[in-house]
Amino acid sequence: MTVRDLLVAATDELEQAGVPSPRVDAEWLLAHALGVSRTELYVDGDEAPADRERVFRELVARRAGREPLAYVLGEWGFRRLSLRVDPRVLIPRPETELLVERCLELLADRAEPSVLDVGVGSGAIALAIADEHPGATVVATDSSADALAVAAENVARTGLGVELIEGALFAGLDGPFDLIVSNPPYVTPDEIGALPPEVAEHEPRAALIESGATQAMAEQALPRLVPGGSLALEVADGRASTVASLLEALGYEDVTINEDLAHRERVVDGRAPG
Ligand SMILES: C[S@@+](CC[C@H](N)C(=O)[O-])C[C@H]1O[C@@H](n2cnc3c(N)ncnc32)[C@H](O)[C@@H]1O
Repeated sequence: MTVRDLLVAATDELEQAGVPSPRVDAEWLLAHALGVSRTELYVDGDEAPADRERVFRELVARRAGREPLAYVLGEWGFRRLSLRVDPRVLIPRPETELLVERCLELLADRAEPSVLDVGVGSGAIALAIADEHPGATVVATDSSADALAVAAENVARTGLGVELIEGALFAGLDGPFDLIVSNPPYVTPDEIGALPPEVAEHEPRAALIESGATQAMAEQALPRLVPGGSLALEVADGRASTVASLLEALGYEDVTINEDLAHRERVVDGRAPG
């Protein structure tokens, strides 16, 4: 079949399966199968080689089963990086790119800051900070050995210097750090059923379900920050003011709520006194 016919058939299959953006996903999958960019799909109307067509059909079938596009592709873009992702890690989200943006602002006047990312997952936050603030020394932890294995692949893939440590929250990490950052799990158990199947059935529960990590992090980060150092947290939509009040009650100063491009309050940060 020609590229055009393959795209039409796959778009139809994905639409029937309830995939929210069937045409775009079909383009990503065909580009991946053919080893070209999405733009190059439209350069000529050639027949796709039979072996590539078989690969494409397998990818489309996985996506039609509502496996996330990022897992089917095996990689996902995050800021300037392309990261390996699979079901062992949360797929990095656009709002987390805002969290990194805020971290870079908080570090702007520090030439060689020490940074800790708690709950590193794929490595997205830690690696993006290491990439965009080359003076930073970045340590990252996760309680999931599976997630750390993916993060280690991404450290090797990007060639960036991030030290990975297995452990819950701050186990064995006294600091002090100029910045502690985290995108902790924040989906409540009653919200999980309302999530699309891509999230609810495929992404790791330990990365999704709220387990008190935000509160524990806020309480335990303060003594691990240098005076004037920052804690920056991604929060669920609608919970920023609660987390901001928590930080203020714990003694953080300059507590700030940051909005994403859609004006949703998704990042909260505060400074240690000093
Ligand atoms: C929402 S994911 C964030 C992953 C990545 N930082 C990102 O933003 O894409 C949360 C991560 O925290 C880890 N995690 C959950 N509870 C933890 C805890 N108590 N201590 C350390 N890591 C934890 C999970 O295994 C998961 O990788």
